[in-house]
Amino acid sequence: MKFAAIIDCDPGHDDVMAILLGARTLDFHGITTVHGNASLEHTTRNARQTVEFANLTSLPIAKGMPRPLLREVHYAPEVHGESGLDGPVLPPPTVSLRDQHAVDFIIEQSHTIPDLYLVPTGPLTNIAAALLRDPSLPSRIKGISLMGGSLTFGNSTPASEFNIWCDPEAAHLVFTSGIPIKMVGLNVTRQVPATAERVAQIRKIGRTTTTHVADMLDFYSVRLIKEYGVGGGMHDPLAVAALVDPEILRFEPMHVVVELKGEHTYGMTLCDGRHLRPDNLAIPGPTGIHEGAPPNAEVAIAVNADRFWELFLDILATYP
Ligand code: RIB
Ligand code: CA
Repeated sequence: MKFAAIIDCDPGHDDVMAILLGARTLDFHGITTVHGNASLEHTTRNARQTVEFANLTSLPIAKGMPRPLLREVHYAPEVHGESGLDGPVLPPPTVSLRDQHAVDFIIEQSHTIPDLYLVPTGPLTNIAAALLRDPSLPSRIKGISLMGGSLTFGNSTPASEFNIWCDPEAAHLVFTSGIPIKMVGLNVTRQVPATAERVAQIRKIGRTTTTHVADMLDFYSVRLIKEYGVGGGMHDPLAVAALVDPEILRFEPMHVVVELKGEHTYGMTLCDGRHLRPDNLAIPGPTGIHEGAPPNAEVAIAVNADRFWELFLDILATYP
C-alpha cells in the first residue's frame, strides 16, 4: 500500500534522491520547498529542475518559508554548493509553481487527503508555520517521517543536526504537536554513504536521470570523501524509505526534546532511551520501564543499508 504524502524539502542533493524515491513508492501529492541547504529561491529552483529532468511535472510544487521562525538563516554551500545542487548541468526550469504558499498547500491538502503523511527533509519551518496557522492540523495528519536530529552526534555542531539546528524552535513545535513522528537521524543515515561503488552502479544504468544523479552524488560525495573519507549520507531518501519498507529501518519509541537554550547543545534532539537496556541499541534487548516523559516519537536506531540500496537502485532504473 502506498502512503499519501507530501515531501517538504530543501533540495539539496539528498532531497532530490527523496523526491525520486517517493515519486515511485508513495501516493505523492506534492512538494513544498523551504530554506535550508540553500536559499528558498535556490531550493525551489532545484525542485523545479528535478521534476523536469525526472518527468514528474504533474507534481505540484509550492514555495514555503524563506527563513527560520526566530534564529538567523543558515545555508550549507560547503556541502551542496552555492546553487544547493552543484554538480550536474541542468537546463533552466520552466515548470510553474503552484500559486499557493506551501503552508496553505499543506493545510488545504490535509482537508482533502485522508491519512496524509508529511515527509520533511529540511528545516521544519513550513511544518511549524502550518501548525501555528491551523492548530487543528494534527487531527488531520496521519504521521510525520522526518530526516532530522540524531541519537548520537550532530553535524552542524557536535550536538545538533543541520535540519534541526537551522530552526530548533520549529522543530520544538513539531515534536510537541502530538503528531506521530518517525525520526530518521544521522545515527542511521550516516551508515548509508553514497560510496564510489554505489555511484558507479547508478551511472552504469545510463539514463538521463541516473546520469544527473551520479553527477550530483559525485559532487556531494567526492568532496566529503576528500574531507572525511566517507561519501555523503543518503539522509533524506531514508525518511521516505521509512514509509515504504519496514525492514530498512528499526525504530524504538523514545521521548525526544529539542534543546532551545543550551550554549553548546542548541538544536540537539535529546532522545530518552533509558528504558532500552542494551548499550548497543542496534541489538534487540530487554525493554525496561522508566519514569521519564512518555515517548513522543519513534527514533530510528538501526538501518539495513544494502536493503535500501537494492530498493533505490531498482527505482532509479525506472526513470528516463
Ligand atoms: O543533516 C542532513 C540534512 O541536512 C539533509 O536533509 C541534507 O539535505 C541537509 O538538509
Ligand atoms: Ca534536506
